[in-house]
Amino acid sequence: MSLSPAFLDELRTRTLLSALVAKTVKLQRKGREFAACCPFHNEKTPSFYVNDEKGFYHCFGCGAHGDAIRWMTDQRGLPFIDAVKELAQAAGMELPAPDAREAARAERARSLHDVMAAAAAWFEEQYNGLPGAAARAYVEKRGITDATRKTFALGYAPDSKTGLRRALEKFGDRMLIEAGLLIEVEGKEPYDRFRDRLMIPIRDPRGRVIAFGGRIIGQGEPKYLNSPDTPLFDKGRTLYNLDRAAPAARKSGRMIVVEGYLDVIALAQAGIDEAVAPLGTALTEFQIERLWRQVDAPLLCFDGDSAGQKAAFRAATRALPGLAPGRSLAFLTLPAGQDPDDLVRSGGAQAFESLAASPEPLVDRLWNHELAAEPLATPEQRAGLRKRLNELVSGIADNDVRQQYQAEFRERFDTRFLQRPAFQRGPRPPFRPGANWQPPRPLSAEAKGVGSSGIDRRLLKGVVAGLLRYPDLLARHAEALHGLQASDPAIARLLDAMVDLALDEQALDTERLRTILRSSEFDALARDLLRADRLRFSFTKQDADPERAKTDLAEVIQAMVEQPEIEAALQSATERFMRTLDEEDRLEQQRLRELRDENARRLANLMQDDEGA
Ligand code: UTP
Ligand code: MN
Repeated sequence: MSLSPAFLDELRTRTLLSALVAKTVKLQRKGREFAACCPFHNEKTPSFYVNDEKGFYHCFGCGAHGDAIRWMTDQRGLPFIDAVKELAQAAGMELPAPDAREAARAERARSLHDVMAAAAAWFEEQYNGLPGAAARAYVEKRGITDATRKTFALGYAPDSKTGLRRALEKFGDRMLIEAGLLIEVEGKEPYDRFRDRLMIPIRDPRGRVIAFGGRIIGQGEPKYLNSPDTPLFDKGRTLYNLDRAAPAARKSGRMIVVEGYLDVIALAQAGIDEAVAPLGTALTEFQIERLWRQVDAPLLCFDGDSAGQKAAFRAATRALPGLAPGRSLAFLTLPAGQDPDDLVRSGGAQAFESLAASPEPLVDRLWNHELAAEPLATPEQRAGLRKRLNELVSGIADNDVRQQYQAEFRERFDTRFLQRPAFQRGPRPPFRPGANWQPPRPLSAEAKGVGSSGIDRRLLKGVVAGLLRYPDLLARHAEALHGLQASDPAIARLLDAMVDLALDEQALDTERLRTILRSSEFDALARDLLRADRLRFSFTKQDADPERAKTDLAEVIQAMVEQPEIEAALQSATERFMRTLDEEDRLEQQRLRELRDENARRLANLMQDDEGA
């Protein structure tokens, strides 16, 4: 007879979980549940809950989760079979005859943990010993301090097919194969999977090593070799560094997702501990769920190149089914070709924080993506946009959130396409920041400069130069461009002429546009603009990634159009407040000021972006 599911269910039902937990942890009643400081990680405020009705405990801090049996194995450290025995005895139940296979399986999971711990220790030993010289040099070259190296327990797998196999002999080949440390080949001796690699231990939320990532020392392919999925390791459900990031996230209220191990490590070294990474795959629903257990809106960092932007959109759509009131995602776009590691290495934590100060809410990411995806010059194309937006929205399972998105997209769509051109309109409807908008941090000196009129003129030049390169944006932004209060009359007339051309001619490409301009009064000005590269936007550069350039250009146009409108609204709000001294008016004024700064910051970011690249 085995420990049948029915027997285990009976056992769980007869065990009062809160009483069991209360034997070792002080519980406080909180409504129908009990709360405590989590016994699985260090914390000062309780985020560990016990629910007797469901028979589960759950920690919102570290993700520890389980039932009575799990409590006995994980908290008390008992083997599965002993856990069941002890619970059965307390519940007055007769234990069925022990099933050897069942017991063996539980035993094996325990030993796999031992294997992984032993392997990690051995890799570290190798790193610190003679064979590790090149690995140490590489780590130093990457700017990783010895303290950081220790924190992440980086190790070294020597260039040998038998080193680990011999060192961990006592566990036996079967076990080492099951742990993913040896590779098994028909008819041959199993051999070490990881050879001549920098070893990065991957830990579960409770800090136990469950897998490894191995980076080649220097150049070569594949750059990273990861453990295969094993009984301990499920790649799609694991986040690198979650065990360290979760407690840090509780302090900062922020959770950052980056692409690679070394980004996590570099951020930690710069003092940003709340970063995790998926294991070389796109973010899965499981991983997003995990992140939501830590914070409401995890911050996802992606490279500004087109691959990175695709990945960002993929993550955005993956999140839709799981959205719930208060739950969202936020996005950071890094300068093209730079990862967080590069960023903090050259500019310290400050470089990262100044980007992180203005994340893009999920709703904006989706909207901007669809807006840039196809041309929007014809009614059919605009209907296409609406259809794509509706399809996205229909992926949201939660009713309330879905309705909010529906309303938001409808309003954005109407504001953009159904209203009279901006110059015929009165002041815009109140500026509403996106759903996840948060007050920005103080504005940097560069960002402050952007609002001043001297730079406005340079911005305008940059935008027109960009439009000469990417005229397909002209028709799409015709309305906005017409409304632009251009500070230079000559450029303003050129811009108007370009917009008119684009509206007349469906397929206006760069060549065609330049040919037309060449035989016009604008020839010299256009050529001058195409040469002027002072602003260094992605869209004023010759060799830029066109996708990125167009996204940036669209964003700059939007920010430029909004700027004077926000400015005007701010001015009238200020006047009103001076008159009324009413708190509501003061808040409105403050909100508009923040919005203006936010806008300036967006422009500043787009300008800086390109400078490093
Ligand atoms: P990157 O190639 O961007 O790595 O891959 P990185 O972190 O910047 O690496 P360094 O800085 O050159 O060392 C990002 C992540 O994708 C996974 C790894 O998890 C890596 O950290 N990856 C990458 C693989 O799994 N296999 C590969 O061959 C390459
Ligand atoms: Mn890197």
